Amino acid sequence: MTLAVIGGSGLSRLASLEITKRKVVRTPYGEPSGALTFGAIRGKGLVFLARHGYGHTVAPHEVNYRANLWALKEENISGVVSVASVGGIRRDVTPGTLLVPDQIIDYTWGRCATFFEGEGAPVTHIDFTEPYTQSLRLRILVAARACAEKVLDGGTYAATQGPRLESAAEINRLERDGADIVGMTGMPEAALARELGLEYAAIAVSANFAAGRGDSAHAIPMERIEAVLEEAMGRVRRIIEKLVGG
Ligand code: HPA
Repeated sequence: MTLAVIGGSGLSRLASLEITKRKVVRTPYGEPSGALTFGAIRGKGLVFLARHGYGHTVAPHEVNYRANLWALKEENISGVVSVASVGGIRRDVTPGTLLVPDQIIDYTWGRCATFFEGEGAPVTHIDFTEPYTQSLRLRILVAARACAEKVLDGGTYAATQGPRLESAAEINRLERDGADIVGMTGMPEAALARELGLEYAAIAVSANFAAGRGDSAHAIPMERIEAVLEEAMGRVRRIIEKLVGG
């Protein structure tokens, strides 16, 4: 079945996607971040959505996660591969590192984080013990290996509210909590995918050392992030091409 890719900062399009159509959709939860882009890689179908909009105008706390996931579910996709830029907390998650997380801690607030609310909606508690779908994680890791791209297997993603970056003390707390990487978009996206019964896994791309770590000891070198992401997204594209196109 067809996979969807939600691209984050640095990945607002997939160059190798032969685009067949773009579809503007509305959902009961409002509008997604942008049109759904349908296409194929080596003959295999794929739906792409830019999480922050195609002009990168939607901030992490303003993303309509429910509309994005609902719109993709309506297209009968089997699963979602999220591409998300993060800061590296763990020492070996240097800028440019790719990591497929296996756990999440949610520090976000005030986001619409469930489909199960409002009048008439049943009280529903989804299981979230393993927030990422293991089989999809493995497929990503296998695709990465097949194209000789180094990807770290496993790690805990801390989802912060943003849009500001964190203080060094906040990163120390996240580390004490067991987080390896920090980003602003992992939640509620992962939980909403689970509520809709979609497979969900992520490729986290380290754009920088998190605050207070490595060369971010006193400030995050923002001017370097764009170049780091551009290079790393080339590797992410190759992995996705392998994953989808075989
Ligand atoms: N913190 C949170 N989100 C991020 C970071 C970070 O350091 N880098 C890229 N996304």
